[in-house]
Amino acid sequence: MEERPCTILAIESSCDETAAAVVQNGRKVLSNVISSQIALHTLYGGVVPEIASRKHVEKINPVIMEALSQANMRLEDMDAIAVTYGPGLVGALLVGVAAAKAIAFAAQKPLIGVNHIEGHVAANFIAHPELEPPFICLIVSGGHTHLVEMKDYGEYEILGRTRDDAAGESFDKVARAIGLGYPGGPKIDKLAPEGVANIPFPRAKVEGAPYDFSFSGLKSAVLNYINHEEMLGHEIRRADIAASFQDAVVSVLVSHALEAVHDRGYHSLVMAGGVASNKGLRSAMSAACEKQGIKLYYPDPILCTDNAAMIGSAAYYEFMKGRVSGYDLNAVPGLKIGQR
Ligand SMILES: Nc1ncnc2c1ncn2[C@@H]1O[C@H](COP(=O)(O)OP(=O)(O)OP(=O)(O)O)[C@@H](O)[C@H]1O
Ligand SMILES: [Mg+2]
Repeated sequence: MEERPCTILAIESSCDETAAAVVQNGRKVLSNVISSQIALHTLYGGVVPEIASRKHVEKINPVIMEALSQANMRLEDMDAIAVTYGPGLVGALLVGVAAAKAIAFAAQKPLIGVNHIEGHVAANFIAHPELEPPFICLIVSGGHTHLVEMKDYGEYEILGRTRDDAAGESFDKVARAIGLGYPGGPKIDKLAPEGVANIPFPRAKVEGAPYDFSFSGLKSAVLNYINHEEMLGHEIRRADIAASFQDAVVSVLVSHALEAVHDRGYHSLVMAGGVASNKGLRSAMSAACEKQGIKLYYPDPILCTDNAAMIGSAAYYEFMKGRVSGYDLNAVPGLKIGQR
């Protein structure tokens, strides 16, 4: 007899997306509902935490009900309720955590607190059913840039991290500087192919830490370049700036990730987080990996940015390890990857 699948209702509210999903056995997505607040925050040029929290409160129940309805399931059919409890904006996280606790308590279901960044990595388990740890993963999101060795489900060793801005953050800041607005990543991605990467922006290395990143110098170099050109009365070549900036970020991400793959003796590389949907990064990393016989994995763009399906996937593997949360689960805005 076939074993009954383990079905998890997952909730995500760490930043500006209110999301809920129903996921079976960590890999099969029955529904993945995302209510984005991007349009709202665009008015302010970035995420306004208090507005995000208020919007989550408004959207959380309808989004959860929609996720159950699209999966054609009821709360009683769930084996567990999962929720992102960190890292993220505290007020935003609290909305999801409070909702998940109330639902788990009322329906008498186990509660599973999930690390948002581990969720980003798990998006790959949905996209690639054959993928299993161990592997090296490059996590490039709005708030984090990490190179990690995922040794087993839920077990990570951080090899490198950014010393200052995250990759996504630098995309957003540079986009703002050249007047593209928020969120900057997708806009730079779209504009870059129209330009030529002919401005020599720096590719920072961190002395003595080959896997660490630093993007704040690059951002300053872009700002200085713009000021200098304006002072000279030159027209600002936005597409060339976008292409040159993206090229600088991508080249550092590619070289560091491949170095880690080689040093640790792996033959595969996984990418996760919003910046993993960048076309320039995907094509440069694919070309470099192909040349060196490394198999590259990344999810569809919709699974790269914030969603609850990835939380449902990570939660399943936590659940299988018996890691469930108590009703005292709280938001942990600074939660680190691998931290329990
Ligand atoms: N095509 C793209 N190219 C470059 N950057 C992108 C692209 N699409 C999204 N991003 C960037 O990804 C980030 C949003 O994705 P993500 O969900 O990973 O971040 P976050 O949830 O805000 O941060 P974190 O996950 O670290 O808490 C933004 O910084 C956005 O600019
Ligand atoms: Mg995220």
